[in-house]
Amino acid sequence: MPRKPLVGRGRHVIMPMVKPPTIIREMNHSDLAMVSDIERRSYEFPWSHGVFRDCLFAGYHCSVLIREDRVAGYGILSVAAGEAHILNLCIDPSCRSLGFGERLLDELLHQARSAFVQEIFLEVRPSNETANALYRKKGFHQIAARPSYYQAKVGREDAAVLSKKLLVGT
Ligand SMILES: CC(C)(COP(=O)(O)OP(=O)(O)OC[C@H]1O[C@@H](n2cnc3c(N)ncnc32)[C@H](O)[C@@H]1OP(=O)(O)O)[C@@H](O)C(=O)NCCC(=O)NCCS
Repeated sequence: MPRKPLVGRGRHVIMPMVKPPTIIREMNHSDLAMVSDIERRSYEFPWSHGVFRDCLFAGYHCSVLIREDRVAGYGILSVAAGEAHILNLCIDPSCRSLGFGERLLDELLHQARSAFVQEIFLEVRPSNETANALYRKKGFHQIAARPSYYQAKVGREDAAVLSKKLLVGT
């Protein structure tokens, strides 16, 4: 016969801690405070709250990665005329190098394929080594440069334009 559970009379039942799974879902307006906070802590020249709101209103594919009930990252994809553009991809600084950036990027690639997109593009600062490493790992390559595209502390910084062909089954 199994032992009686230790309940009542001051005894405590010890429950195992079950962490909620990390998921990716559609972004909504109530996420914007957390999204903007991550944005401000991640970029020297962050997007404003209004830019994210406009992305939602514009109908872009806006996704959030939820870890332990909090927004830990987000990605924004625009799709038009058979092309997709990754407009933002960002992971909370405290959650980086845990595989979440790659997971979110995989989701954006999946969204683009589902929209029958054949090629996906993005701009990245050449100085952003982590992002460049991630994109190259996922099969992006540089196709062009946009001179003086980004604000910088001193003057402007070029953007590298990267692309990846999305063939069926890739
Ligand atoms: C770029 C970014 C999204 C990567 O997210 P992440 O969760 O830290 O990355 P992951 O843990 O998924 O790592 C995926 C790949 O990224 C690269 N990477 C991750 N951390 C790295 C680091 N510290 N140094 C170099 N490369 C790194 C590696 O190629 C890694 O693959 P590997 O683990 O097989 O080596 C994240 O650093 C970030 O949010 N940066 C600030 C915002 C930004 O610059 N976004 C890109 C704008 S274009």
